[in-house]
Amino acid sequence: MKGIDPWDVKEVKDYNELMKTLGVDSFSNYIKKLKDAPIEIRRGLVLGHKDFSKIYESIAKKKKFAILTGLMPSGTFHFGHMSVISQVIYYQKLGAKIYLLAADLEAELVRNIKEKDAKKIALEEYLLNYLALGLKSKNLEFYFQTTGPKKFKEYSNLSKLASAKTTFNEVKAIYGEITPQKLISSLTQAADIIYPQLEGISTTLTPVGFDQLPHANFSRDIASRMNFSLPCFTFHKLIPGLQGPNTKMSSSKPESYISFDDSEKEVERKIKKYAFSGGKATLAEHKKHGGNPDIDISFLWLKYLFEDNDKKLNEIHADYKSGSLLTGELKEILIEKINAFLNQHRRNREKSRKELNKFNLQ
Ligand code: TRP
Repeated sequence: MKGIDPWDVKEVKDYNELMKTLGVDSFSNYIKKLKDAPIEIRRGLVLGHKDFSKIYESIAKKKKFAILTGLMPSGTFHFGHMSVISQVIYYQKLGAKIYLLAADLEAELVRNIKEKDAKKIALEEYLLNYLALGLKSKNLEFYFQTTGPKKFKEYSNLSKLASAKTTFNEVKAIYGEITPQKLISSLTQAADIIYPQLEGISTTLTPVGFDQLPHANFSRDIASRMNFSLPCFTFHKLIPGLQGPNTKMSSSKPESYISFDDSEKEVERKIKKYAFSGGKATLAEHKKHGGNPDIDISFLWLKYLFEDNDKKLNEIHADYKSGSLLTGELKEILIEKINAFLNQHRRNREKSRKELNKFNLQ
């Protein structure tokens, strides 16, 4: 698909343009309508959707709906993974049944990560952190692609039967030239996305990053040809990596992210050394002309992750722009916020360990 490869994620420069050319609807009308939404939704990280009106109606009329989403367990859990899970927790509170999967099959097929290692990462890095962030084990089904959900046989057959509902031409139009193992991953993902319907829940939402858009289209095509309901999607942009507004956090590049295991000192070091600044080159210039908060990573992380209070965020924005707030000071605000969050999170995580054992997963 033009400009999007789900296995080689590039930061998108112009999301509005992308949405226009690829037929994704704007999410902006829903932002104000959703009550008590997480910061990722309120501050506009979730930009696009397909058929969200069905989900909105289910919420308003208290009708049954499910969330299904997943992550490829490929490395440490970092703040780039927050946007998905915050949304999942939000919808769980609204009563949705949650299906969460770890794409260990995809990790082995396309990243060459062995199943055993992928599972360990999925449990220790992902599921444990999800629980510590507030995901509840009630009304949740967590599964691995290799061992499948409760109805494993149907799930496994679904991913294979889906192959009869597409053609190489369509696959090429959606994904470009792909390898057989990527095609298997796509068919498996389509089965993931349709799976809640096998358990009788026909209204489903899959929150994902924009990079997953080809999978969204593929699974919707297959769903309609197999007489399932069309799965709904929301698409969020990526929280930028430390190197700048158009970079991404990448598991293979520790200087691009803050991980949930980084110590206080490491957080301080990384932010001071790497967080891209929108400030001016010299102190005098900065004080005179002010900085640009909208390209400054410290500001953007406060906006999308840590500063919940709109008034405070606006003040920081104005002060940085006027030059009265210096880059070093802005970084200090962020460092303090991250460390306060992580200290609390680490305490929560110890409590969540017991809960993790209850899952009894192999
Ligand atoms: N492809 C996704 C990733 O790279 C993982 C995934 C597999 C997924 N199945 C899914 C995401 C179903 C959403 C829904 O992270």
